[in-house]
Amino acid sequence: MAIQKRTVGVIGTGNVGVAAAYALFMQQTASDLILLDKDQRRAEGEALDLMHGQTFAGPTRVRVGDYADLAEAQVIVIAAGVGQRPGETRLDLMERNVAVFRAILTELDRHAPTALLVIATNPVDVLTYVAQELSTRPPQRILGTGTMLDTARFRSLLGEHYGVDPRSVHAYILGEHGDTEFPVWSDARIGGLRLVGNTINGRPYDRPALDAIFERTRRSAYDIIERKGYTNLAIGLVIARLVQTILDGQHSVLPVSVRLQGEYGISGVCLSLPGIVSENGLETSILPELDDTELAAMHHSANVLRERIAEALP
Ligand code: 2OP
Repeated sequence: MAIQKRTVGVIGTGNVGVAAAYALFMQQTASDLILLDKDQRRAEGEALDLMHGQTFAGPTRVRVGDYADLAEAQVIVIAAGVGQRPGETRLDLMERNVAVFRAILTELDRHAPTALLVIATNPVDVLTYVAQELSTRPPQRILGTGTMLDTARFRSLLGEHYGVDPRSVHAYILGEHGDTEFPVWSDARIGGLRLVGNTINGRPYDRPALDAIFERTRRSAYDIIERKGYTNLAIGLVIARLVQTILDGQHSVLPVSVRLQGEYGISGVCLSLPGIVSENGLETSILPELDDTELAAMHHSANVLRERIAEALP
């Protein structure tokens, strides 16, 4: 008999919600997964399909529920909404997804007012802010997946370039999860050695190659969507990592989308900074020293997102 029931809700069983549920199931992060979707039969199909994998992955119970069932959830992932179409930016999705969020947040405040919320729907920074405005729970209990995915992509590509495990690359993409995101080159390191100006594992410092790696990172979603129509597998793993960090109270430092309150002179917007994440949500943000270019990029991200928030919540 398990000592503690760990229940995670996933709202939206489209490509992203299902990838998140699959990653959570494979990693046995929760004792119970509750799936919700406006298309209940689809959610039922996904729940059955996952349950049939228990023999291989472990005994996580998966079921379809309604909002009242989410009262037992410690963490709820919101992956509902419309996805990005080929050629469309994440911000184009906003209006359609704000309407979906209004309905969801009303239900969650009624039935699961203390659960931590993980927002994955795009444009994730705007919708994290919108969720914080619409919900009565404190903003530090509503985190957006932000640039965790971009940072993971960046570390993979840098790992490939330098011939090292991406988990040994310490480099961040911060700002908007989207077109204005930026790399923190000034503090990107492998084994404590800065990438800028140094030869690492026989690879000399090559500015154009590094710039191309960032450009590939920034374009990743477009490149994938042009080929397979959507992105879901890596974001599913991102969500599972974030949920695990919360449930375990790991205090990991993750680049998540959070509300700025004067950091770098910015407020009234959500964007990604490295933050310490625990069972309480965001404990505190870490503010790396940024050079002038990075600081300007952070402000540019904030300005773009602030305009979008004003459109989202007129
Ligand atoms: C991604 O970056 C589309 O935001 C999604 O994969």
